[in-house]
Amino acid sequence: MNPLNHVAIIMDGNGRWGLKYKNSRNAGHKAGLNTVEKIIKETIKQKIKYLTLYAFSTENWKRPKKEVNYLFNLLENFLINRIDELHKKNIKLRIIGIKKFSSKLNTLLNLSEKKTAKNTKLQINLALNYGSKFELINAFKHLSKNKQKINEKNFTKYLQTKNIPDPDLLIRTGNTKRLSNFLLWQLAYSEIFFEKKLWPEFNENDYSKIIKNYRSIKRNFGNI
Ligand code: IPE
Ligand code: IPE
Ligand code: MG
Repeated sequence: MNPLNHVAIIMDGNGRWGLKYKNSRNAGHKAGLNTVEKIIKETIKQKIKYLTLYAFSTENWKRPKKEVNYLFNLLENFLINRIDELHKKNIKLRIIGIKKFSSKLNTLLNLSEKKTAKNTKLQINLALNYGSKFELINAFKHLSKNKQKINEKNFTKYLQTKNIPDPDLLIRTGNTKRLSNFLLWQLAYSEIFFEKKLWPEFNENDYSKIIKNYRSIKRNFGNI
C-alpha cells in the first residue's frame, strides 16, 4: 500500500455547477465551500498530513470583477468565521502564492497563518494568486542573485512550497484534463486523477474511492 502524505486538489467546476443549478456562477463558488469542508474532514480521517487546495490562480484575475470580488469576500468570511475552529482542530494554514490582496485580506491571511503556525494535525496549503511559472522564475532569480549552485536542493529552497513534501496525489475535478499552471515542478511524480464531477458535487465518498485506488498503484519513480 502506498503511503499518502500529501494530496493536492484543483477544485474546478464551481461556475458550471452554479450556472446549471442556480443560474449564477457565484452560487457555485458558495456551494464549493461545502465541499472544501467535507474534504478537510475526510483528509483528517485518512490521517493525511498535507492538503493543498488550488483556490485562485494568477490567471483568474482575467475574470469579471464581480466574480473575483465575490471569491475574495467568500474567503474573507470563511477566515473570519472558521479560523478558530480550524485552530481548535490543530490545523495549520499556509498560503502559497503572491500575497497581494486588499489590506484587509492580507492582514486576515497573515493572522490566520500566525495563529495556526504551530499546529500539527494537518497542514492546509491554500494556493491563492498562485502560478507555477511565476514561482519557478522567482526561484531562478533568487538562485542567480545569491550566486548559488544550481541544483535541486538549492532550487527548491526558493519555491513557495519550501519544506512541504511533493504531492503524492493530484485530483482535478470538473471533467477537464489540464494542470492550469499548478505545481508544475512539484507534480513531477504525483499520481494524477481527473474526476468528472464538478467540485460542488464531489464528496467524501468520491475522495475515498480515489484514495483507495491511489493506494493500490505501483509507483516506480523510474525504477522497475
Ligand atoms: C474553480 O471553478 C474555482 C476557481 C477557479 C476559483 P471555476 O470557477 O473555474 O468553475 P468552472 O470551471 O468555470 O465551471
Ligand atoms: C484552475 O481552474 C484554477 C483553480 C481551480 C483555482 P481554472 O478554471 O482557472 O482553469 P482553466 O482556466 O479552465 O484552465
Ligand atoms: Mg474552471
